[in-house]
Amino acid sequence: MNNWREIYQEKMVSAKHALAQVKSGDRVVAGHACGEPTALINALVDRAAELSNVEIVHMVAMGEAKYAQPGMEKSFHHNALFVGGSTRKALEEKRADYTPCFFSEIPRLFKNNILPVDIILLQVTPPDKQGFCSYGVSADYTQAAAECAKIVIAQVNSCVPRTGGAKIHLDAIHFIVEHNEPLIELKPPKIGDIEKAIGENVAGLIEDGATLQLGIGAIPDAVLLFLTGKKDLGIHSEMFSDGVVVLAERGVITNRKKTINPGKFMATFLMGTKKLYDFVNNNPDVELRPADYINDPYIVGQHEKMVSINSALQVDLMGQVNAEMIGYRQFSGVGGQLDFIRGASRSLNGKSIIALPATAAGGKISRITCELDKGAAVTTSRNDVHYVVTEYGVAELRGKSLRKRAQALIAISHPDFRDKLTAEAIEKGLM
Ligand code: COA
Repeated sequence: MNNWREIYQEKMVSAKHALAQVKSGDRVVAGHACGEPTALINALVDRAAELSNVEIVHMVAMGEAKYAQPGMEKSFHHNALFVGGSTRKALEEKRADYTPCFFSEIPRLFKNNILPVDIILLQVTPPDKQGFCSYGVSADYTQAAAECAKIVIAQVNSCVPRTGGAKIHLDAIHFIVEHNEPLIELKPPKIGDIEKAIGENVAGLIEDGATLQLGIGAIPDAVLLFLTGKKDLGIHSEMFSDGVVVLAERGVITNRKKTINPGKFMATFLMGTKKLYDFVNNNPDVELRPADYINDPYIVGQHEKMVSINSALQVDLMGQVNAEMIGYRQFSGVGGQLDFIRGASRSLNGKSIIALPATAAGGKISRITCELDKGAAVTTSRNDVHYVVTEYGVAELRGKSLRKRAQALIAISHPDFRDKLTAEAIEKGLM
């Protein structure tokens, strides 16, 4: 351990040299979301002409995902554990496949050799005095993949914020590529009147002292806008973003009342702007741990007043949630939605909330539907959902019969669709 500075020098190579390790047919796992090691991925893509059938496993790809673009299909195939803006088209055009898996279980895909890892591409901080690098903004599945991979290649980037929790020693890294560059940022979403109305309705369900999980996007951020009057909120969330920083600075989020890990912001990955990265850098109150800890429903459920807030594409009149498919098209993935919903259900005085606009496509489509679209998967079952919230109000489903659920859900649908939904519900025998 003492001679880590020498080890560092010995392991330091160019990106080209490090990525020469990849062979045709290998499975390569890439660091997640805003923790993506861009320099390493670019160097891999540069080798496209020499490689065939390299599987690239990634969850939320926040970069360009060049490996999934047209012309790359002979060299690379993307195994998507989630589908996002830069990979959706690749999936539709068969350059990528989606693998359904709860986020909490992804580390076990690697650890249990269900998806053996040949190479992991990481992005980490420079080493500390003991030679440990912080995983920065992505512990999630990245740590598990690094523990299992035959070859560990790390982009050491001084712009990566040093977060507490997950760390890797230089001994465990085979190749080091020094490359400093700003992290990928997630810009704050646009929050319109509908999101604000939903945010206000959700905020009404959150009590002082609650611990929150917030999904990605405009709705979770809109909820945060209406929490300024609350006290002693806590964060135990798959991820968090800039909105949480604002509430922490205002003293609304203190983490003081958290049942486990009191005082700490706990997450498995982070996505935001430099404001977030500066806030978490060397902040002793911020800890990132792998997804098989943070998202484990048993861990989540140990918090009293755990509130999970997630969004959906559709909810049917029984309360089944589709958060990932538009018809037969895989639009996103399950991510951590059910992990946190199950955890919040186990929590003493916990609440699981699905919040979504009442309509899509400029008001033409109701998202409250008698049946889910043909082809769509059920992301969260009707047994798991406590509350569904739209801009028209809150439907509490827990403990309600199918008839009462249908009534409650129709009452929060857009007024233009209520008569049609009622007629369909009667025809289907739900009411
Ligand atoms: N039918 C047709 N189109 C629909 C639709 C429906 N029922 N519902 C939404 N759409 C369209 C929207 O109009 C929008 O299209 P546009 O971009 O052209 O305007 C697009 O699909 C996206 O919908 P939107 O509601 O804006 O998506 P979002 O970015 O808020 O994400 C989820 C919502 C559900 C996809 C997202 O929360 C998700 O992936 N959830 C699953 C994972 C999860 O919950 N993780 C939680 C832990 S982080």
